[in-house]
Order: sequence, then structure tokens, then C-alpha cells
Amino acid sequence: MLVEHIGELVTNDPSAGEGPLGIAHDAAVAIDGDRVVWVGPTAEAPEGLEGPRIDAAGAAVLPGFVDSHTHMVFAGDRTAEFDARMRGETYATGGIRTTVAATRAATDAELLANARRYAGEALRSGTTHLEVKSGYGLSVADEVRSLRVAAELTDDVTFLGGHVVAPEFADDPDGYVSLVCGDMLDACAPLARWADVFCDRGAFDADQARAILTAARDRGLGLRVHANQLGAGPGARLAAELGATSADHLTYLEAADVSALADAGVVATLVPVADLSTREPWPDARALLEAGVTVALATDCNPGTSFTTNMPVVIALAVTAMRMTPAEAVWSATAGGARALAREDVGALRRGGSADLVLLDAPSHVHLAYRPGVPLVTRVIRAGTVVVG
Ligand code: NIG
Ligand code: FE
Repeated sequence: MLVEHIGELVTNDPSAGEGPLGIAHDAAVAIDGDRVVWVGPTAEAPEGLEGPRIDAAGAAVLPGFVDSHTHMVFAGDRTAEFDARMRGETYATGGIRTTVAATRAATDAELLANARRYAGEALRSGTTHLEVKSGYGLSVADEVRSLRVAAELTDDVTFLGGHVVAPEFADDPDGYVSLVCGDMLDACAPLARWADVFCDRGAFDADQARAILTAARDRGLGLRVHANQLGAGPGARLAAELGATSADHLTYLEAADVSALADAGVVATLVPVADLSTREPWPDARALLEAGVTVALATDCNPGTSFTTNMPVVIALAVTAMRMTPAEAVWSATAGGARALAREDVGALRRGGSADLVLLDAPSHVHLAYRPGVPLVTRVIRAGTVVVG
């Protein structure tokens, strides 16, 4: 397959074009099977490739979005809670229990159908690689089946048994932490690549989160932390202490948190639709970028705080509200997501990488922020196959 006459190609390979996005003009991408085999000027494209030639007709082409933080395995919805919040209620973690009850009551087939529906939405808006968490089961059996559903969507599966204390342990939170660190991780670790803990008010404190994350690391899982979403606290520093790959949310950061993340090389994953939908302040993306922290952008797709699958809207908010430049936001939604998942094969368009491309009905990546809410993604190629358009 050859995608040619690309007006603006974002490669995220600085050796292939201008700036950190490695932008090339009148460019082409050659694909063999599921891999990119060549990137360069259309006039120099290789001959004799099998498969279709796709004429981008001067449009912009980007690497597929990498959404490194989603909670797509759940049942039910929280419309009433959202409506109450928009009338003035504040977000509290207790709402998670509504989704836990609905998730436990759903069949495996229903959970899979829901998750596939949200992953399909994501794909149509240009997301070609996802991370998917468990965390609405909170029993050994329900976490196991949540992880099995997640594994139908991605190989970046995250165990989030440490989301909140399970309802039946309401009077014994440390008993729940012991269950997670023991039997639950024994059953779940073989089904996941990552472990995550919600370290915040109404969820787990630093000692509880450290116990869960350490037990997960001992079983070979990489670490991620829901940190500093609802207030200042220990989450970001815990992520740094434990060498987590990513700390996520980071709405309430102090200077010491920013320097701890920078010193430890933890990726900061920002999820602006969660801040929007809970009416929290915007995370200080500029402070993170100026401290040299790698920033990723993700949807946080979940029924409580961020019921979106749409990376273009995340980019638009990151630029207009969080003061990232369009180039920074596009990088963070592609290469940044790949860094947050410690992957080399996605998030960039270069020889040997996965052939994941998004074609826009726009001349430039800047339009993703300039035209918020407009469905600019016209075609999506994932692993060398046209899956949308
Ligand atoms: O990422 N912060 C924790 N978990 C989710 C919200 C979960 C829910 O409210 O259902 C989040 O925002
Ligand atoms: Fe989340």
C-alpha cells in the first residue's frame, strides 16, 4: 500500500522532517503488511508495492492516536450523576460503586459488547492503539473477567483492582488491600501488562497504594498511578519513588511533584476531559513541559468523570485551555502515549513501525485544535489495513 500526495505528514521522527513532529510536505508512506517500510517525498516513492494507492490529495496525515488511559470495561452509565454535577454537586469516588454494581451484574458478552462499542468509537476518531484498565469488578472473579475483556481490545491491559475499596470491604479497607496484594494479583497478574492504583482522597492512601504497586511490581507488572486528581497529595511522588512508567491526571501539582516526576523520568499523562467533566481546574501542562517532563494526552474514557473516546477533543482542550501548542499536543497524543506505554512500535511513522495512520480532512495538524468538535478524521489505517473510510 502507498499513501501519497500527503500535504503535511507528521512522522514524529525529527530526522524525517521539520521540528519535533518531523513534518514532511508532499510526502508518501509505503506499507508492507502491517509495517511502514518507507517514508519520503511522493516523487521518490518506491514502485511495485502490492495493494492500493491512496491519494491523500494534499491533506494532513498523522500517526494514529495512542490513548494510554481508558476504563472501557464497564456496564451501565452515570447520566444522573453527571446531571447532578452539572447542577452543582461535586465529584466523589462513591459513584464508582454504581458502575461496580452494574459491571458485576453484566454478562461477559455484555461487557465485551460495550467495550467493543467504545473501542469502535475511538477508532473512528483516529485512535489506533489503546490501553484498557479493569477496576469496576473489585472481586477476584470480576477483575479476572474484566481483564479478559480488555485483552480482546489490546495488549496494553492494566489491572486496576486498586481503584476503590470494594463495597463488601467498606469497614475493612486494609483487608481489601490484602486481598488485592494476594489472591487478586495472583489471579490477575498473568492477564495484565500493567498495574494502576487510584491514590487520592476517597480511594487509597500512600501506604495502601505503595503496598499494591510493590506487590504488582514483584509479579512483573509495569506501574501506573492515578495521582493528584482530586487534590494535592502523595500520588505523583509515589509514582516517582516507585519508578512508575506514568502518573496520570495530575490536576493538583506542587513544584516538588513536578521536579520528582522530572527527576524520575515518569511520563505525565493528562486527561483534560476528566477535568472538564468534573469542573476541576486545568492541569499545569506548561510547568511539566518546562521541567522537561514527557507529557502524554489520553481520554480517561470512563462513565464517571470522562465519558469520551475522542482524542481530537482532548487535543483541542490541551491547546486552547491548557496552553500546549498544537505541535506539543499532537506529539503528546501520539508519541507521548507510546512513551506512557513504553512502546517503540506505535506513535510515530517510520520504517519498521506499525502502519497506523490517520488522514484528516484538513491541511494541517493544527486544525485538530483550530476546529474543535469537527469530525476531521476521514480515514484510518491500522496495522496496514484501512479500517475506517
Ligand atoms: O480516572 N480516578 C479514578 N477513576 C476514574 C473515575 C472513575 C469513575 O468515576 O467511575 C478516573 O477519573
Ligand atoms: Fe482514569
